Amino acid sequence: MKVLIIGGTRYLGREIMMRLAERGDEVTLLNRGRTECALPDNVDCLTADIMDPDLLVEALEGDDGRVRTFDTCVHMIAMDGARAERVIEAVWGLIGHYVQCGSTGVFMPLQRCPADESEPVAPPPPDMGGFGSKAESDQVARELCAQYDLPLTILRPTNIMGPGDVPIDLLGGRDAEFFQGILDGEPIIIPNHGDGLLQPGDVRDLADAFVLAVDQPDKAGEYNISSPYAITHNYYAQLLADAMDVEAQGRHVPVDEIIEEYAGTDRFSVRGIRFFAEHMCFTIEKARRELGYEPQYTAEASVEQTVRWMFDNNVIMRD
Ligand SMILES: NC(=O)c1ccc[n+]([C@@H]2O[C@H](COP(=O)([O-])OP(=O)(O)OC[C@H]3O[C@@H](n4cnc5c(N)ncnc54)[C@H](OP(=O)(O)O)[C@@H]3O)[C@@H](O)[C@H]2O)c1
Repeated sequence: MKVLIIGGTRYLGREIMMRLAERGDEVTLLNRGRTECALPDNVDCLTADIMDPDLLVEALEGDDGRVRTFDTCVHMIAMDGARAERVIEAVWGLIGHYVQCGSTGVFMPLQRCPADESEPVAPPPPDMGGFGSKAESDQVARELCAQYDLPLTILRPTNIMGPGDVPIDLLGGRDAEFFQGILDGEPIIIPNHGDGLLQPGDVRDLADAFVLAVDQPDKAGEYNISSPYAITHNYYAQLLADAMDVEAQGRHVPVDEIIEEYAGTDRFSVRGIRFFAEHMCFTIEKARRELGYEPQYTAEASVEQTVRWMFDNNVIMRD
């Protein structure tokens, strides 16, 4: 397969790139060239900022002036409608299938648990912001792909966990110091009573889902992808402490008090804690049934291996 990945040098995009390259696909990345990443020999890299339509089109032209073509474009950074539009307008005539990375955040706050792909998408409450622009990028992709008769797959990960990045902390950020605090024996701040639900999707499983989607343009559609079940915030705190081999000491604090305590500190966002305090619980049955997606990592394994990655990479350190 000839695959163009927009992004592709960090975390989930990087995992997808590695899988496709390892099996011998012709992979081309397009990004600004700012994020450092060692690329396999068989991966080509084009440089452009997707916000600059002229540079984008120029980058996609081959050295001999002939335009490149691809079986599939995987767009990892459709953060809003403008980004989705710029990329689709530049690639639609060059590709046979467009795969966009969405987010289950567009469904927040949930009405049903577990939620499926038919969960309503409503504008998020102002203090949960952010996901409105992801919903907009989905809508732009639907409209443009319909107009250009291009098969569209939107894959929506839940919160991404797994080796390669700091996991979500219990204040809704990705703050290494939060995890160092747990290791140092500080109480773990847990929103409300700790019975909120978190459903981490392991980055390796999510990358597998993208490869399955790339291989099956005939199964184009919209899919939620994650691990098989959600865990409570209390259990997440326990799993983190177990993985660090420390005694778990939870301190339950109502979200509004957390906001009062942390608002204005640079490692905290109101949006992050509001999002984290929502239930995150999705069924992945559609992806299983249609794409053959079968996650290999439970939430427990994913937490344990992410903590190990933080130790191995000196993100957190014992005295
Ligand atoms: N984090 C989560 O828990 C979560 C949950 C659900 C969904 N998601 C979705 O996952 C996706 C993120 O994927 P990711 O892990 O691959 O990480 P990412 O950090 O979004 O990837 C950034 C990649 O895009 C490139 N890039 C950034 N801005 C660019 C621009 N203006 N023009 C061209 N290239 C640009 C970067 O390279 P350069 O810097 O070199 O340009 C890099 O390759 C997003 O769509 C997000 O909404 C995330």
